[in-house]
Amino acid sequence: MNMNRCSLLAVLLALTACGGGSGSGSKSSSSSVVSSMVSSSAASMASLSSAVSSIPSSAAMSSVSSSAITSSISSASSSSTPVVIELAENGGFEISEAGSTAPANWSLATNGGTAAIQVISAANQPSNVHTGDRALEVAINTIGANPWSIETTHTGLNNGGIPVVGGSIYAYKAWVKGPAGAQANFTVGTPAPAYAERARSNVTLSGEWQEVSIEVTTSPDDTLLRLPVHFSLAANVGATIYVDDFSFTKVESITYEYSPVTVESLRSLSPGNMPIGVAVAAGNSAISPLTNIPRQTVVTQHFSQLTAENIMKPSFLQPTQGQFSFGDADALIDFAEANGLKVHGHTLLWHNQIPTWMQNFSGTKDQWLDVLRTHVSTVASHFAARQSVVSWDVVNEAFEDAGGRYRGSAANTGSSVWYTNIGPEFIEEAFKAAHAAAPNADLYYNDFSTEWNRPKLDAVVAMVEDFQARNIPIDGVGFQMHVWGNANVATIREHLKLVADIRPAIKVKITELDVRLNYVDPPLSANAYTPARADQHKALIKGIVEAYLEVVPPEQRGGITVWGVADVDSWINSLYGRPDWSLFFFNDMSPKPALQGFADALSGN
Ligand code: XIL
Repeated sequence: MNMNRCSLLAVLLALTACGGGSGSGSKSSSSSVVSSMVSSSAASMASLSSAVSSIPSSAAMSSVSSSAITSSISSASSSSTPVVIELAENGGFEISEAGSTAPANWSLATNGGTAAIQVISAANQPSNVHTGDRALEVAINTIGANPWSIETTHTGLNNGGIPVVGGSIYAYKAWVKGPAGAQANFTVGTPAPAYAERARSNVTLSGEWQEVSIEVTTSPDDTLLRLPVHFSLAANVGATIYVDDFSFTKVESITYEYSPVTVESLRSLSPGNMPIGVAVAAGNSAISPLTNIPRQTVVTQHFSQLTAENIMKPSFLQPTQGQFSFGDADALIDFAEANGLKVHGHTLLWHNQIPTWMQNFSGTKDQWLDVLRTHVSTVASHFAARQSVVSWDVVNEAFEDAGGRYRGSAANTGSSVWYTNIGPEFIEEAFKAAHAAAPNADLYYNDFSTEWNRPKLDAVVAMVEDFQARNIPIDGVGFQMHVWGNANVATIREHLKLVADIRPAIKVKITELDVRLNYVDPPLSANAYTPARADQHKALIKGIVEAYLEVVPPEQRGGITVWGVADVDSWINSLYGRPDWSLFFFNDMSPKPALQGFADALSGN
């Protein structure tokens, strides 16, 4: 290859791993400012040379101009983390052989369509190479039904994604040429499994070379991105399209100024000392407040009640039939009591997170009832001895996700070993056993989606009223309240009130509050936790807490529990395989505007 003719339009990725990654540490805790700093450092030089020397082709090295290197270094970070600089000339295909159908760092996915890519040379097709020696040719034969069929992607070096700095602006440039009316959709997105889109430009082709220029704002949590170009459009069938001169360069870091957070202690603002709870990890978890001091500080400063996020579920407490394992839970209760915190037990029965032996147990209905009663009685009586354990989720999620039937009662209602082997009366049996074992604890039925799903809520209300009519002990209903950022507060208020209005009155508790803000689909797509997004989060939390205080009389308030401490701790991240900003503390443990929204609602501001 004649490198002298190369235009040096290398994809030059000058990238900084900003302090701690995942958006953590890049925000000052005092003023809630996110900033990624820019300057040069010796560390950047060291990693630059190692990145360059790892490029297999020495010809590629010689093609890197010193001015390009210098400019990339001068925009690198001064953070203590080494700067990562990756070079792949023209996205990899400039250093690939002409005729190659598998250029370095590029992939072709056809998902039902048929297409071919190959590297072409200026020598053979001068007008189809924009600059330099090579361009990428994409010949589209047929398209598939899948909207992502015919996707040509710069997958990053060694297919690992392009390392990027979260919370930054990148300039993505490319050139494209194809028949007038054909179309190429240039996108930027996160790697599998999330494939969240960060930016796109749909280009209608003109027959001439056209420049594509996209400004990309990375999410604070982004570490890797890909550059897929989509051709799955009817107008492209039979078209041959050329792309060239890719570059993806960091332009600047973003400084976020979030609205101020002044709350010093959420719990101290709680009207009537209603419990303000938080779900916590425990056992040997690195984020347990027993050992993780930053989390311990937050937990004891702001909250008055704990829920074990996992370790009081059946799989943890009775891993082997008849052998109960209370060590981790007891340690958590010790911690709670040493710090003046109450504990809400979660959960005596659930269809999830039960031990394998229980899941696979084979027996008659009576034998299953035995299993149920043994577990509920043993666990509830063990903790009844601890003054801090004031309440329990006795049964969790017994109704189907979609509507009002019992989970497991029909096709498409999900499955529950309890329903299958005992029938609907497993619920009342659990409440009776719990009440006998822990007569002083408030006993809750807990479920999700009840804040918006009326058939599901109606089923829960009907169950409570039926229990009351038959003297089955039940003290309250827990709304998990795992909401989306566009949740409707008026509906939430109405649904809380439907439970608060049950007579005789029962308690209403928000048991697992968090908010999903990183949507998969436009138009709700949220690329970054911008100040506007943080304020939307704050307003929603304020609305939910206000609604709760408005419709639940003081004596019926079981309190409000948030489902985790820092965003990075949240189960929402792994639920969707992408980062989110669901909770009340940034990853450096500084409070988010959402905490202020909670505080403002508690104090009536
Ligand atoms: C979740 C935990 O947060 C995760 O760590 C665990 O892997 C799965 O369970 N509803 C509930 C909670 O009642 O117990 C769930 O907690 C979240 C949904």
